[in-house]
Amino acid sequence: MMAVDYLFDPRTLAAATAADDTTRPDQLSVDDGSCKYRLRPLCSTDFGRGYVDLLAQLTVTGSVTQQMYSNTFEVMKKNSGTYYIIVVEDTEENCIVASGSLTIEKKFIHLCGQRGRIEDIVVNSNCRGQRFGKIVVQRLIALSRVLNCYKISLECKDSNVNWYNSMGFVKEPGNSNYMQIKFEKPSH
Ligand SMILES: CC(C)(COP(=O)(O)OP(=O)(O)OC[C@H]1O[C@@H](n2cnc3c(N)ncnc32)[C@H](O)[C@@H]1OP(=O)(O)O)[C@@H](O)C(=O)NCCC(=O)NCCS
Repeated sequence: MMAVDYLFDPRTLAAATAADDTTRPDQLSVDDGSCKYRLRPLCSTDFGRGYVDLLAQLTVTGSVTQQMYSNTFEVMKKNSGTYYIIVVEDTEENCIVASGSLTIEKKFIHLCGQRGRIEDIVVNSNCRGQRFGKIVVQRLIALSRVLNCYKISLECKDSNVNWYNSMGFVKEPGNSNYMQIKFEKPSH
């Protein structure tokens, strides 16, 4: 049997357990396939499990092909220590039902420290309200601690502010403006 090609070492994820983790062990396993749902790093074959289709519930993906997915996966994997994408797999249906990403940015400030950015949190519409979203975010927070980040941040819709507040994210007074310049890109 071919070894699973993970984006990062699953042991790093297994080591990242949070005190406030709401994971229900009877429902979801982290390091083996003993439950219906399995939390694990993204792997090279997740395109076939509908990973990009899931992302389309979050934003515009365009028509991403298997080849495009594989190329991006390889680039991310080669940049070891930078991209941490985790997924919840429904092992019975063989599909990805939730996902989130943590990207690590190295710095010269803070004693050449590193900070994390959480992005692309999404749960399949059929599976919302079952704590998968919280499980993913809490794991990414724990992962950023294991990776020695001095801080993590995210941007979100107004409607999700309370949800992220409930997991410890706060708007810093006088320093919570999110600004952007959007460039036109072909969507397919
Ligand atoms: C936002 C999202 C990830 C939440 O995932 P989810 O798995 O449905 O959420 P959870 O089940 O983990 O939520 C757990 C708790 O938060 C509550 N909650 C969910 N969304 C909330 C919101 N927007 N504000 C406040 N509370 C919220 C739930 O009622 C639940 O409460 P409980 O623990 O008391 O039962 C999901 O709705 C989604 O994928 N939305 C579309 C994509 C998106 O907006 N992503 C976020 C981009 S910033």
